[in-house]
Amino acid sequence: MKNVDVLLGLQWGDEGKGKVVDYLAPKYDVVARFQGGANAGHTIEFGGHKFVLHIIPSGIFREGTKNFIGNGVVIDPVIMMKEIEELTNMGIDPKKNLFISQRANLILPSHRLLDAVYEQSKGNAKIGSTLKGIGPTYTDKIARNGLRIGDILYPNFEKKYYGLKSVHMNTALSLGPIPDCRIDGYSISEYETLWLQAIENIKELNIVDEYWLNGCIKKGEKVLAEGAQGTMLDVDFGTYPFVTSSNTISGGVCTGLGIPPSAIGRVFGITKAYCTRVGAGPFPTELYDETGQALQKIGNEFGATTGRPRRCGWIDLVQLRYACMVNGVTDLIITKADVLDSFQEIGVCKTYCVGEFIEDMPLYLDDVEAIIEKLPWSPIKKDLPKTAINFMNIISNFCNNTPIMAISTGADRDDMVILHE
Ligand code: GDP
Ligand code: IMO
Ligand code: MG
Repeated sequence: MKNVDVLLGLQWGDEGKGKVVDYLAPKYDVVARFQGGANAGHTIEFGGHKFVLHIIPSGIFREGTKNFIGNGVVIDPVIMMKEIEELTNMGIDPKKNLFISQRANLILPSHRLLDAVYEQSKGNAKIGSTLKGIGPTYTDKIARNGLRIGDILYPNFEKKYYGLKSVHMNTALSLGPIPDCRIDGYSISEYETLWLQAIENIKELNIVDEYWLNGCIKKGEKVLAEGAQGTMLDVDFGTYPFVTSSNTISGGVCTGLGIPPSAIGRVFGITKAYCTRVGAGPFPTELYDETGQALQKIGNEFGATTGRPRRCGWIDLVQLRYACMVNGVTDLIITKADVLDSFQEIGVCKTYCVGEFIEDMPLYLDDVEAIIEKLPWSPIKKDLPKTAINFMNIISNFCNNTPIMAISTGADRDDMVILHE
């Protein structure tokens, strides 16, 4: 039974995944996050309101859709409980439609301190992390030191917590004096108080084992796995070391949810009609001129989690085809096509120059020159103009004829042109 479809980002994150998950969610019984944490910011707009979700899956606004936070996700209890409180104030009942894997790892306040200390120690080689504690938490998970959601129900949890915290403080001290760092505006000890309270509140939520999601699948329910970040931020296949610390690609779905590969059906790949990146690292098609600034302004390209300006450039088909390959994308969804409407000419990259011309992804992108071709553009309407059809055909053909399922033409949940179901 191929009951699990996957939706994920094909670029450097912020492709509009939240909007598209919210759009598709009524067709699914469960929306499941499989990796990442509150480094994500997934924006959903409807009825004139805008919501940014960091940790709760983007199916939460659809009545009748269950939402699952999988074992592959790392959870900061303070951020999760704050988000749940905001949703509860809007009339959403998390007890009814939110389920959390007992195996998801916890982000400690001291993981967030370590994130800041490691970034600081990198100097000019900074990753530009969101400082949500993602890297140090996954490090502890793989090093087999982490604490998990299920642990909070055991009497020795506090002892384990203080033990791990003390290891972190010693590590931080070994790198120099501990900086006077604030966590989302709080001192470390204030944050710890909030954190311990949030742990108590999590005990009231639905903490589930591996039989829960597999049981849904067995009953014939449909699941949409929601990716965070994007393929070029994948720890194995992205622009390493300027990446996040999880597998953002479709391969991460099985390990991040505890389901078999045979359950996976379609893979929806989300890409902007151009390209953005927030944080440090190579970006071949980046525009440093007024066109880049115009894309940033018209596309409102400012980070949903940190508010940082996003770097902007033209769409990169070498990168996109690579992303389609490593994910096995079955359907492309192109977002923010409306942002191109202010331009009469748009750019597309099909080739890199590295002394010679190449069309495949090299190990490092640092010394790559993107060769940009120009295409005419006229504004998108319900019936796509010839220029848009030509652009979509170029994208689809270059990506080994991967079909384009839909084009998003605005931030609202209803701004979608569906090309095939
Ligand atoms: P995500 O992290 O992939 O969910 O994406 P973000 O929410 O971080 O960033 C996408 C931004 O673009 C958000 O502000 C969305 O509201 C907005 N957005 C999504 N789709 C469209 C679209 O088709 N057109 C426009 N103009 N904005 C869009
Ligand atoms: P969504 O799900 C865009 C980037 C950071 C940094 C690098 C590592 O909204 O698409 P981390 O906090 O993981 O240590 O940061 O990854 N990054 C994102 N960029 N969208 C995201 O998530 C991101 N999550 C992390 O800017 O460069
Ligand atoms: Mg985002």
